[in-house]
Amino acid sequence: MRKIHIILIMAAGLLPVIPLKPAQAGDVSLPEPGLKGSISVEEALKSRRTNRSFSGRTLSLEQLSQILWAAYGVTARRGGYALKTVPSAGALYPLDIYAVVGAQTVSKIEAGVYRYNPEAHALTRLAGGDRREDLGRAALGQIWLSRAPTVIVITGEYARCEVKYGSRGRNYTLMESGCAAQNIFLQAEALGLKAGIIGAFVDGNVTKTLGLPPAHEPLLIMPVGYGQD
Ligand SMILES: Cc1cc2nc3c(=O)[nH]c(=O)nc-3n(C[C@H](O)[C@H](O)[C@H](O)COP(=O)(O)O)c2cc1C
Repeated sequence: MRKIHIILIMAAGLLPVIPLKPAQAGDVSLPEPGLKGSISVEEALKSRRTNRSFSGRTLSLEQLSQILWAAYGVTARRGGYALKTVPSAGALYPLDIYAVVGAQTVSKIEAGVYRYNPEAHALTRLAGGDRREDLGRAALGQIWLSRAPTVIVITGEYARCEVKYGSRGRNYTLMESGCAAQNIFLQAEALGLKAGIIGAFVDGNVTKTLGLPPAHEPLLIMPVGYGQD
């Protein structure tokens, strides 16, 4: 009986349980991600640094699209399920990726808080207004982050992983967020952009500032934009 149970669990590991999420009315469709960069992975690894000083230069929607795809985009489909740019324990994908945008800091989209829908490669706007400075205050006063044209926030919903892995699911969620973060760093470098990474923040203040669902725990904040010359 125990043997059958283990076989079932192993099989479940190959069959993700998260169904495709369709785009909602009013979503912003993102441009198709590109698959060719201008620098090698090795060059991106060599030049990657935490950037804390951003120029005021606007990002294109194509650049934001590429960053989001690198963070958590769909790269393969197996049956009705999607596999992504990051590995995920049991392919349960407990992360959500949010983009915080200012007024005219990313072309073609309004200021606000957007949730990335990887399956539809689209953005859902959750809230309006430029919340980057408030986010900087929630990050223990690291206001420098608000000068980036977009600030990516990675959240984790532990329950999605805990359903299979119990309390270990929390650790797996945190580990996965590091994979997404490094993808953002490397993709930013490949686009000639820079990224920062912030773990020092008051969770509840980030949740409140961005109007996040309570189950989506903020894990990492990553400002992305052009560096200062
Ligand atoms: C989990 C984590 C949390 C971090 N939190 C902050 C932060 O709150 N503020 C900050 O300026 N840098 C933060 N950093 C960036 C580190 O200070 C930085 O990675 C380190 O100094 C090495 O520099 P490098 O990334 O440029 O190679 C964080 C890095 C990690 C991995």
